[in-house]
Amino acid sequence: MHKIDIELIEMTLDVMKYAIGRISATEHDIGKPKKAEELKAIVGETVTAKGVGGEYAFNLWKEHLSKANVPVDHPRNLAFVPASPTRAAIMFDLVTSASSIHGAYWMEGAGGIFCENEAMSWIVSLTGLPEGAFGVFTSGGTAANLSAIVTAREYWRRDETYKREKGLIITSIGAHSSIKAMAKVADVDILLVDSEEELKGDALRKTIDALNFHQRKRLFAVVATGGTTNAGIIDDLEGIANVCEQENLWFHVDAAYGGGALAADSVRHLFRGIERADSITIDPHKWMFSPYDCGAVIYKNPELAKEAHSQQGSYLDIFKDEGAHGFNPTDYQIQLTRRVRGLPLWFSLATHGTDRYKQAVERGLELAQIAGSMIENNPHVELVREPSLSCVLFRRIGWNPEDYTNWTYENHKKGFALVTPTKWKNGDSFETVSRFCFINPDTTEKDIAMILDSMA
Ligand SMILES: Cc1ncc(COP(=O)(O)O)c(C=O)c1O
Repeated sequence: MHKIDIELIEMTLDVMKYAIGRISATEHDIGKPKKAEELKAIVGETVTAKGVGGEYAFNLWKEHLSKANVPVDHPRNLAFVPASPTRAAIMFDLVTSASSIHGAYWMEGAGGIFCENEAMSWIVSLTGLPEGAFGVFTSGGTAANLSAIVTAREYWRRDETYKREKGLIITSIGAHSSIKAMAKVADVDILLVDSEEELKGDALRKTIDALNFHQRKRLFAVVATGGTTNAGIIDDLEGIANVCEQENLWFHVDAAYGGGALAADSVRHLFRGIERADSITIDPHKWMFSPYDCGAVIYKNPELAKEAHSQQGSYLDIFKDEGAHGFNPTDYQIQLTRRVRGLPLWFSLATHGTDRYKQAVERGLELAQIAGSMIENNPHVELVREPSLSCVLFRRIGWNPEDYTNWTYENHKKGFALVTPTKWKNGDSFETVSRFCFINPDTTEKDIAMILDSMA
């Protein structure tokens, strides 16, 4: 298993051939899921005492299993937050795997961590956070949000008064589901401002003023969103920063999706106030064209994260020794052993330069505006709200929720597109509508026109 023989060489060539084919292909099929039982019936037993052989297993993958996936980089995959890793980044993902680097401590992963930090410096520079701010790559936005919430809570609990209090955070219903999920993991309560539109400083102030004495005592952080997942809305970061400063609250900005737009000159001003955050989540695997999985958490004062997350153990002491002199990513987030998952991003940034990133993000923003105009000029559909960042919410006039579901399945079944419905709060009720989220700069106006035509 760990020896080199001719079979291994042949398998390496096969895998490389597959990877080259995938990386250089300009068209991909939109795969369709099958039930687990159906897949099992097709491929049979694959994990056996003697093994079925690499060639056989790889053929099963190519012929059947790979086709049950929807490529996130298909130009007509506009569901959730899709992705579009650059070819350079995908190639270096292979190099990252082949290099077997333990990315927790500088002592073992200095070369890889150095590259990660080069990429991180660029991301931090986009935020405008003051000198000393820095971050680490995480498995995604969820892990980044959790790492930030735990850091904030530990900092708050430094004060004896709060040692036995259950923490409370405020965000809005527009915040991503991971904020609620991670509050549960961190065992803190969450208070949701009931608006999916921009959370404003005034609304936050009113919410805080309405808290009772004990709730106010327990309140330690506010989470704003820099680009909501559902509609691309950026909260009033400046107004929220003001309130957080007045009230001495930790200010976290979840820009997991929208953070890539910090690179785009046309919308950078919408994020004003982010430079005053205590922590920020940005996912390079969303709008910074990295392969999965690559999130990032950034801190104004990384030392606070280190106090919260640095793991202790006699087997770890050597890694923290002066002799290892370097940056240890594990100290700033929840995970110990980690892949140097920022390495593909570094290679792609080094290859293409940051200007190309700006252009690719600007194209996503432009596609949303183009889609908005097409919707306005199409009698069957109408905008639910103006496009925001790269999200477009629109309704098909006369459709009920089942129509949206059937249409989604129909297009998916045909291998044509993946565009999924969502809900938008309309007064006191929620309306089912359709949603585009543009990331892939290779999506064309024709793609959008064809999707809208399929609704007619
Ligand atoms: C605003 C926001 N925050 C957090 C997340 C969670 O990120 P991940 O799926 O990388 O854990 C997402 C995912 O779409 C998001 O859009």
